Amino acid sequence: MNILLLGSGGREHAIAAKIAESKLCSNLFIAPGNAGTSECGKNVEMKVDDFEAIGRFVVENDIEMVVVGPEAPLVGGIGDYFANDSKLKNVALIGPSAQGAQLEGSKDFAKHFMERHNIPTASYRTFTKKTINQGFKYLSTLEPPYVLKADGLAAGKGVLIIDNIDEARNELHLMLDEAKFGNASQSVVIEQYLSGIELSVFVLTDGKHYKILPSAKDYKRIGEGDTGLNTGGMGSVSPVPFADKAFMQKVEQRIIAPTVKGLQKENIGYKGFIFVGLMAVKGEDGTMDPYVIEYNVRMGDPETESVFPRIKSDVVELFEATWKGTLNQTTLEIDERTAACVMLVAEGYPEKYRKGDVIGGLEMVKEPMVFHAGTKLNDSGDIVTNGGRVVCVTSLAESLPEALLKSLQAAETIKWKGRYYRHDIGQDLLKLIINC
Ligand code: AMP
Ligand code: GLY
Repeated sequence: MNILLLGSGGREHAIAAKIAESKLCSNLFIAPGNAGTSECGKNVEMKVDDFEAIGRFVVENDIEMVVVGPEAPLVGGIGDYFANDSKLKNVALIGPSAQGAQLEGSKDFAKHFMERHNIPTASYRTFTKKTINQGFKYLSTLEPPYVLKADGLAAGKGVLIIDNIDEARNELHLMLDEAKFGNASQSVVIEQYLSGIELSVFVLTDGKHYKILPSAKDYKRIGEGDTGLNTGGMGSVSPVPFADKAFMQKVEQRIIAPTVKGLQKENIGYKGFIFVGLMAVKGEDGTMDPYVIEYNVRMGDPETESVFPRIKSDVVELFEATWKGTLNQTTLEIDERTAACVMLVAEGYPEKYRKGDVIGGLEMVKEPMVFHAGTKLNDSGDIVTNGGRVVCVTSLAESLPEALLKSLQAAETIKWKGRYYRHDIGQDLLKLIINC
């Protein structure tokens, strides 16, 4: 079949590479894609939120499946756009309905959903400009640090963790009264701070059944030792060593099963990925208990770059079953090895960064996989930097130290002016393994 994948990052390159391997895929199109995805299929100049252009392209090119990478088109309602169009409604769109996408599009919606279905998460309350005084009062009942979350999508910047109550009050004022995050902070969720270790679990669901994909951990800060500004993600590791069978059983019983059941019970159309951001908190019995920090309605980036290479099953078969509601009739085969992904970024990132530098050494990387994030081909056919996060390398190995070493060695061979990467991806997990 002909397949269209929407998006242009490292996540989409990793998904494209798996789709291209499928025996069910005749032609793969990626919109808009990057220099890396053009090796898996044909890039198409099209914006991911231009639903009309996407719909036209789907009809004209006999596309039978659309896989949506980023959240914006999902929260913008691409699921409903397809469902409500007679020519598009039978196209297998992998992604939730607009209502399902609210799990990511509105923190308040997600918190209420969890409350209704008894899914463990931090206690919270939501405030608006009208109820700001109650918000100040609520803050004074909490212990620091204070967690303030803009309700809507704020390009990953809408969560503030603040130690000082006066600063927290001021930020609440800025978010609600001064629209610090625009419309996204018309409502603000204030929640209890959870102390623990973060990890992510990924689920593919047809709305009734689900498959649990491998767990992963990402590294958000620019600096080594988790310091400095937040980024889109500087690397990832899969699986997370402490997410053992007992922990994953709790995740499934307490979080995944009730989430999918909740969607079904509330008639929320959902055929796609659920990315569950978790905090593992030490419980009274000394074991780790999972709490939901957030839902996303897509795969993570750069988690996909370590999760997808571990999927041995045909992903198009899984997507087809997701569309048809027959995921329970499929098997998900996972590579037992560990994947480690190291992201190489442009000088200056995550602030103003350089673009257009020729990337050297890509051809020297033999075994690790290279996924492109912000790259493009220039007029002379060179691959040049075209984004903050530029390329990442992923290695699979029997152990985490081996996978990390292979990825770091490969990262060193890829060069351009000012390229930077973190050398300490996964080191916190290695310490945890040693201390266990
Ligand atoms: P989110 O966008 O909801 O994932 O939040 C961004 C980051 O803020 C998370 O990855 C966590 O590191 C942190 N965070 C969010 N909520 C909490 C919480 N309730 N307690 C502690 N840290 C949190
Ligand atoms: N790596 C975090 C995200 O994709 O949201």
